[in-house]
Amino acid sequence: MLQGDVGVELGRRVAAALHAALGVEITPAEAVIRPSAREGVDYQCNVAMSLAKKLEKAPREVAQAVVEHLDAADLVEAPEIAGPGFVNLVLRREWLQEQAAGLLGDERMGVGTAEVARRVAIDLSSPNVAKEMHVGHLRSSIIGDALVRLLRFAGHEVIPHNHLGDWGTPFGMLIEHLVDEGWSADGTTADHSIGDLNGFYVAARKKFDADPEFVDRARLRVVALQGGDEDTLSLWRQLVDESTRHFEKVYAMLGIGLGPDDVYGESFYNPYLAETVAELEDKGLTEVSDGAVCVFPPGFANREGDRLPLIVRKRDGGYNYATTDFATIRYWVRDRGVTDLLYVVGTPQSQHFKMVFAASRQAGWLTDQHAEHIGFGSILGEDGKTIRSREGGTLKLVDLLTEAVDHAAAVIAERTAFDAEEQAALARIVGIGAVKYADLSNDRERDYVFTWAKMLAKEGNTSVYLQYANARIRSILRNAGDVPEPGARVVLTEPAERALLVKLIGFPAAIEATLESYAPHKLSTYLFETATTFTGFYENCPILKPDTTPEARESRLVLARLTSRVLTLGLSLLGIEAPERL
Ligand code: ARG
Repeated sequence: MLQGDVGVELGRRVAAALHAALGVEITPAEAVIRPSAREGVDYQCNVAMSLAKKLEKAPREVAQAVVEHLDAADLVEAPEIAGPGFVNLVLRREWLQEQAAGLLGDERMGVGTAEVARRVAIDLSSPNVAKEMHVGHLRSSIIGDALVRLLRFAGHEVIPHNHLGDWGTPFGMLIEHLVDEGWSADGTTADHSIGDLNGFYVAARKKFDADPEFVDRARLRVVALQGGDEDTLSLWRQLVDESTRHFEKVYAMLGIGLGPDDVYGESFYNPYLAETVAELEDKGLTEVSDGAVCVFPPGFANREGDRLPLIVRKRDGGYNYATTDFATIRYWVRDRGVTDLLYVVGTPQSQHFKMVFAASRQAGWLTDQHAEHIGFGSILGEDGKTIRSREGGTLKLVDLLTEAVDHAAAVIAERTAFDAEEQAALARIVGIGAVKYADLSNDRERDYVFTWAKMLAKEGNTSVYLQYANARIRSILRNAGDVPEPGARVVLTEPAERALLVKLIGFPAAIEATLESYAPHKLSTYLFETATTFTGFYENCPILKPDTTPEARESRLVLARLTSRVLTLGLSLLGIEAPERL
């Protein structure tokens, strides 16, 4: 758990009060401390409602016990009971002011580091060789990268791995097609670029469907590939390298730090597949069905009630997607000692992962490790259907990202006077940020509609809005000339000042909530609320006007500085840059 969250601290105090008053043991989370929507109340404690029944007492009686025994006078004003037994908590002004002073010297804005660091393997991006990355891979890359950043910030050891689809039967047909196209094993082929990866795949497929002679060649090629034939492996490597160059171009455009060292493609697990299946067999977990070796994890059946299989070795002796996923779990747990396995993969694969996890528990490959499929929905076009290119074909990610930067350039050119080089840099930051933020600000499990206008709007919950808000604050700080030093004091007089500070100290709680359910949209919602709260503050509390007292000016500059820090840090944890000027 992260420290620094006042809600958690209040939970601890309430738990202690209940222990003192009634001898009950609860965790801080069970104290149910929630931010309150009521005017003038910061937090509400709902523990009386949840405990009353268990204790066979009236909720108000439990609430009374909390109020009488609560030892939190350093944090909150004397608590009051409201309604059937809610305890209203109001943070003390002096305490809030001290927090602000403390945060000024804390680059982490109150977020502690995990008491117990976990070692997390996270499967992200994972596109397929000889195919264009599609929007599903875009979402996986963006969400996965944000989670890597957030988990690292929280103090965990994170190992991203790119489960590249670089092995299996399709490679027979792909390699034969390469040969037909004049590629050679010694790599001396003149032109090595597969300009249009999808086109390449489609052409190979077409031949495969039409030409039995090609099918035979493709079959033999798979055997040669699996048998380790040098020439075949060399052709395969060229194909993988060509695709990897394409993927790395997309990662570079996105500013995602996935590189060659992070690639643990399906081929990586190839040497382990036979022993993986043998282990399943030894443990008595397999059944032969129709000539194929299958596992049937308990609890998975179709509508007719038939048990669902995971095929681990096909009739022809070949291995499957599921076999590789078993080998993957075995590798990361056994050889790399991870405590957590996260998979950022589209929701349609949810059943696959449930079954793989269940069978891995049976096999003893997963014991006390936490394995979770972090699913996500699709990106839809404005017509509500899966997003396509303007010509109606599959959308190429490179095109989408280039278009985002072009749109952003138009937005920026409208209102600022930067030189061409700065404009180009800003267009990239704003355009790519907008694509990422549109993705991360939506509940990942839902589909969302992709609209240029909405995504690049200067008002509303967009990265552009947050980037402008931050740049405006930076400009205020520059104009003030005396950016507040550590030790500068905050003195709260106006409600808008207090509201802003209460929001700012909520940063650790926002990070915690985000990580708890791997839900970046919770952080984005928090950042948006912070920026709008700042706007309310700035309208009511002038900073640089002549009649602002020096004391108020210093205090408000501290609040502005902290706001900018929260926005910059928060955006960076989502993988989005916040420029100094915009
Ligand atoms: N390559 C797969 C696809 O494009 C995703 C792989 C996800 N990771 C895994 N371990 N199965 O659908």
